[in-house]
Order: sequence, then structure tokens, then C-alpha cells
Amino acid sequence: MTVPYQFPDNFLWGSATSAYQIEGSPTADGAGPSIWQRFAHTPGTMANGDNGDLACDHYRRFESDIALMRELGLRAYRFSIAWGRVLPDGTGQVNSKGLDFYERLVDCLLSHGIQPMPTLFHWDLPAALDDRGGWLNRDIANWFADYASLMFRKLDDRVPTWSTLNEPWVVTDGGYLHGTLAPGHRNLYEAPIASHNLLRAHGAAVQAYRAIGQHQIGLVVNIEPKHPASQSPADLAATQRADAYMNRQYLDAALLGRYPDEMADIFGKAWPQWPRTDLDLIHQPIDFLGLNYYTRSVNRHDDQTWPVRASAVKQSRATITETGWEVYPQGLTDTLLWLKNRYGDLPLYVTENGSAFYDPPVAEAGQVNDPLRVRYLQSHLKAIHHALNQGVDVRGYFAWSLLDNLEWSHGFSKRFGLVHVDFETQTRTPKDSARYYARVIKSGGCVLDEPTA
Ligand code: BGC
Repeated sequence: MTVPYQFPDNFLWGSATSAYQIEGSPTADGAGPSIWQRFAHTPGTMANGDNGDLACDHYRRFESDIALMRELGLRAYRFSIAWGRVLPDGTGQVNSKGLDFYERLVDCLLSHGIQPMPTLFHWDLPAALDDRGGWLNRDIANWFADYASLMFRKLDDRVPTWSTLNEPWVVTDGGYLHGTLAPGHRNLYEAPIASHNLLRAHGAAVQAYRAIGQHQIGLVVNIEPKHPASQSPADLAATQRADAYMNRQYLDAALLGRYPDEMADIFGKAWPQWPRTDLDLIHQPIDFLGLNYYTRSVNRHDDQTWPVRASAVKQSRATITETGWEVYPQGLTDTLLWLKNRYGDLPLYVTENGSAFYDPPVAEAGQVNDPLRVRYLQSHLKAIHHALNQGVDVRGYFAWSLLDNLEWSHGFSKRFGLVHVDFETQTRTPKDSARYYARVIKSGGCVLDEPTA
């Protein structure tokens, strides 16, 4: 019998989270507040007035959460380090209790046979650094490299894969251009500067790693394939701009050492002439690329949509998630192939992929039926398998997310977890999707054709 879906033996099956979304206790044990702590406590910023003060209480429950990961058979866990826990002011004085937390987390993962995959920055910039200009201050490349070096020195003996940044596009687009995410700015001139300094910080951290690190380091980006709503020249050009803005802006800079030509058209006078030496700093060889994939968008020209002049057209026949995203697994295969063709044979990890759907209440037998999420997972894993069959070097998959958590300014209203969290009692209940994923892992992918409810 032929096995239709079989992943490589060493394929890294994992799940992902981030610090502010799950840890809670954001200022415990000497930690400095982050811009997310500040933003979430600013009235009117968060759905239902939610904040990350408790979240999934993972800071205090990490041991039982790791036991649960083990139960599900996870081989790897992608988490982020809260910069302000280890450096309360972002620079200078080290908070040993914060460092100890991540050391205990890593040791606990290893003792359960789970590979740790930390991300150094998943959006929770120390507020003290924001007071000094945050991502608008060029010095942040050095601040970040110093913080990264501290973590490398502490944990590189036990951590085989590091990521510098998670999704620089979201940091800039939400945080500096549209104001929907921390630090809540809305400024055309700031956006290119913030992106550029994020990328410089990435480059400086990779350089620092080459001096002291022994393993692998990469960058995590979110890529959304952009399709044209029609073949009209205006829609085609709008689609190119949308792609340059969200996708190529970061990857061309980090992997090719240049920005796409469309950037000057999009930002006009707000697009600076960057020094060549900056691009050289950004363009560091990396060991892998992390791809976060959720959806695609179909674009048409729209002068009202500032500054890209492209707006997304809703797809009426598609399944749409609770965050309004079209379920489009083909886009994952296409993106993996596109990455290989455009940027060469860099090892790839799908570092995030998942869906928010309405979940029914936990049944008495301790079950949560989430057939749409099961189907999402199944179809996207198949999409990865198709890419593997076409020669793309995909090394692992991290389901977003292990736990229902704080979905940024949506608060707790959007549930992405494989594991249901009751935020009143902190009870964890693996959903059907978690059970399904456990079977996929155990079979190395063979059960991907199993019918879903
Ligand atoms: C982010 C996560 C977020 C997820 C779902 C990604 O953009 O890295 O933090 O929760 O998507 O929106």
C-alpha cells in the first residue's frame, strides 16, 4: 500500500505562542513593562477592555503546559522572550529572575524531549525603549544586538534555532502606520523608518550571533500571496504594490540587500534614500527563514486606501475565518515555491499557521468539536506536503497556536488555540484539532487523509 502523505522522519512538528499573548504576570519579578502592557491599559485600544495581565497564566503554569505539549507529542515549541523581563529598561541592568524564567522554560522543554525555538522579538518592546524613540531610533539596532547577545550567551548551549524578529511588517503596519497595534502611531513618515530599523536590528543580531553562537539563526516573516482582482493594468499594478509593501519589502532587503522599486511609489516623499552600508548590515546570511502563513488577498486598485492604493476584494464563495481571512491552502504551497524560486534554497520552517473559529462550549466529556479548524490544519499540512514533493526544503511546521490566547487588540475574542483555555478557571482542554494534530505527528503525516467531521 502506498502511503499518500508521509513527511520526512526528522520533520519538526511543533506549535507556537508568544510571550505577551500567553504569559501573564507581565511585570512580575522585576520585569519592565512593554509597549503592549501600556497600550492594553490605554482605554479604547482593546476589544472588551482585555489585557495581558493574566492571559493564559503561562508564566506560572509553564510546567503543566509543557507536560500537555508532551502529551500531544510535540517535538518542538516556538515561543518568544519578553525583552523587558530580562532587561527591564531594554538596555543596561539585567534582571536575573527574568533570565531564570526562560532558562527554566528551556530546561523543562528539553527534559520533555521538546526542542525550544525562541524568537527574540514578538512585538513587546520594553516601554523604556519606546520612550527613547523605540523603532524610530537608529540606536535600537545596537540595543537589540546587546539584548540578543545576552540571550545567546545564556541559552545557546541548549537552543539549536533562534529567530530574531517575528513579522516586522505587522509591527510597522499596525504600530506605526495605522495605529491599531502598539505603540499606536499613525504616521506615513515613521513607517519606513521603523521597518528599516527593525531590519537593521535583525542584521545586527545575526552578526552578533556569528561571533558567539554555535547553531542556527533566522528571521520570521508573514507572507500573504497577492492576487489581482482583474487583469486590468491598474489592478495588476496595485497587486504588485501590495506584494512589495507586505512581502518583498522585508525579504528583498534581508535576502537580496535591496528594497523593491515600488516602495518609493508607495511612500512618495516619506521614502528615504537609505545608505548602502545599512543595506549591507540588513543583508546577513541567515540559516533559515520562518514563514507565517494564514491567507491570501485579492486586490484591486483603490485610491482611497492609503498609502498602497490597493484594497482587498472579499471572496464570496470561500470559507472565511473569524478574523475575516479566506481559507486558501493553495497559497501555502505557492508561497513555499515562490520563496525557493525567488530567494534560493534556504531551509524553511512554517513558523505559524492556524485559524480562529467560533468554538462551542467545552462538552461535559471534556471535548471541543472544532471541525473547521481540523479541516484548516489538514488542508494546510497537505499544502506543505505538495511543496515538499516539488523539492522545497521545508523542515518543520508550527501550528498557531498551542493555546487560545490574547489576540492582540482583539483581546480574547478570537480563539486560535488547538487547546481551549477557560480564562476564568485557566482549565486547558485539548480541542479535536489538538487530538487530530497529535495523530498526524504520531503517524508522520500518514493520517492526513482521515475524514474530518
Ligand atoms: C502573529 C501572532 C498572531 C497571529 C494571528 C501573527 O500575525 O505572529 O501573534 O496571534 O498572527 O493573528
